[in-house]
Amino acid sequence: MRLVVHRSQRDVAHAVAQRLVAELEGRPSLVLGLATGRTPIPIYQRLSALAGQGRVDFTRAATFNLDEFWRLPAEHPGSYRAFMARHLFGHVRIPPARIHFLDGMARDAAEECARYERAIAAAGGIDVQILGIGANGHIGFNEPAVALQARTHLATLKPQTRRANATFFGDDATAVPEQALSMGMATILQARSVVLIATGRGKGRAVERMVNGPLTTRLPASFLQVHHDVEVVLDEAAAERLTSAQRGRA
Ligand code: GLP
Repeated sequence: MRLVVHRSQRDVAHAVAQRLVAELEGRPSLVLGLATGRTPIPIYQRLSALAGQGRVDFTRAATFNLDEFWRLPAEHPGSYRAFMARHLFGHVRIPPARIHFLDGMARDAAEECARYERAIAAAGGIDVQILGIGANGHIGFNEPAVALQARTHLATLKPQTRRANATFFGDDATAVPEQALSMGMATILQARSVVLIATGRGKGRAVERMVNGPLTTRLPASFLQVHHDVEVVLDEAAAERLTSAQRGRA
């Protein structure tokens, strides 16, 4: 894992946006894995601004979002599809056919998950996967458990995760769906590169365990230790619990 620590959330956003701009310049048909949550919002804002200035081109790129709430219509403001439209896709020029989501309203969850795995494979796999991390160490909706799912699946959310997602449901955790479709651990680990971003003190413990702790299903993000190309981009608050040598690698 390469650790990069920036002074502020804004610096994190600029650095990650810059990396994506460079990746898209090098490979215009880049296949991006995208995450939702508060953490990537400044990155999407930065990319939207750069797109407005003609400094980044998404027209040949493809995207696959990590997860989507189950049984929530795409039009619902809390859906991840609506989130991405608000924060990125409404502001950059990308052909709708190149934007991929799990369909939370699909008739059959298992079939929908299999379709998504096939679509990722047909696109040639994910080149760069952007990830956030839950305060409990989840990635996507792969929650801490005795066993994790390798492939895209229907996941049940922890109460803590539903609370963390309540912002998009009028701050009412009970309004957050109990289940979601999510890429699995192997789906995520098959991305060629992973960029995990974490900002704020609330992520400090999960980040420390992800980086220094044992590989454990109790902290799904710890599995990133076995991936050969992971960049962990942090602000100082999220890096607080790391050793000074680790924080100094910025
Ligand atoms: C949700 C998403 C994750 C995201 C996590 C952290 O549970 N499914 O993909 O990484 O929240 O969100 P935030 O960035 O708001 O802390």
